[in-house]
Amino acid sequence: MSTVDASQLTIPVILGTPRQGRLSEHVARIMIEQLCKRRDVATTLIDVRTLYLSSMDAGEAIKDAAFSEAMLRADGLVIVVPEYNHGYPGILKHVLDTNLKEYIHKPVGLCGVSAGGFGGTRVVESLLPVMRELGLVSIFWDVNVSSVGKAFDESGKLLDQALPRRIDKMLSELVWMARVLRYGRDNVSTSDASANLPMMCTACGLPMNQHAQKVDFSSPTTADPVFYGTLQQIHQCAGCGNVQVRLADAS
Ligand SMILES: Cc1cc2nc3c(=O)[nH]c(=O)nc-3n(C[C@H](O)[C@H](O)[C@H](O)COP(=O)(O)O)c2cc1C
Repeated sequence: MSTVDASQLTIPVILGTPRQGRLSEHVARIMIEQLCKRRDVATTLIDVRTLYLSSMDAGEAIKDAAFSEAMLRADGLVIVVPEYNHGYPGILKHVLDTNLKEYIHKPVGLCGVSAGGFGGTRVVESLLPVMRELGLVSIFWDVNVSSVGKAFDESGKLLDQALPRRIDKMLSELVWMARVLRYGRDNVSTSDASANLPMMCTACGLPMNQHAQKVDFSSPTTADPVFYGTLQQIHQCAGCGNVQVRLADAS
């Protein structure tokens, strides 16, 4: 078992387009640079181009093991997303849909990128209901990069010197939320503790905290008559961050 540095947060950056010649890649690079300046944060770039998901299926059935592991270990997320026809690239949604319990009660910071003058505000707004349904917690700062073609030169060198400061503003809020929500996942239960036997972590043996319930719509059985899916309890281990689920009515 790898040891977890309790003081360090893991916040990966998802680059949400595979387009050849994408300018969002430059923005994602600056995002990573700003995150790397924070000693209490570990980060990595997750490029949707490198995830080879089937287009013959969708959802948790086509999980990419490395991506799911990265989402499970993450304390928060940044998504750098270009605006395509006032929405998000379909491949980003395809990737995000492959996980669920891995995201719950983790904050997400959104960075919209556009060629036009609105800085990807429309793509950010269109992503918000998706974030909510995935269980991610949207923070109230975004980064908006408008006229991205003028923010970098042809070699990718940053021209917009204010961008790192705007990114930092968003990251400060994201890091605070990541700390608060990690504490919550580890310590604050959504359940009546007396009604639930503690679940033990299969990785390190400590009792786990139940921090959420979620309906799994992909389940073939209906375990709860109120929901058309299986109601699952999501547990997190304060010792090693391991996440486990069990049916809500399991004793
Ligand atoms: C399919 C497609 C649709 C687009 N729609 C919009 C749009 O609705 N608004 C806008 O400002 N730019 C739009 N753009 C331009 C992108 O914002 C521009 O390519 C920018 O550089 C960010 O995307 P990129 O990372 O793919 O380069 C579109 C680009 C593509 C490829």
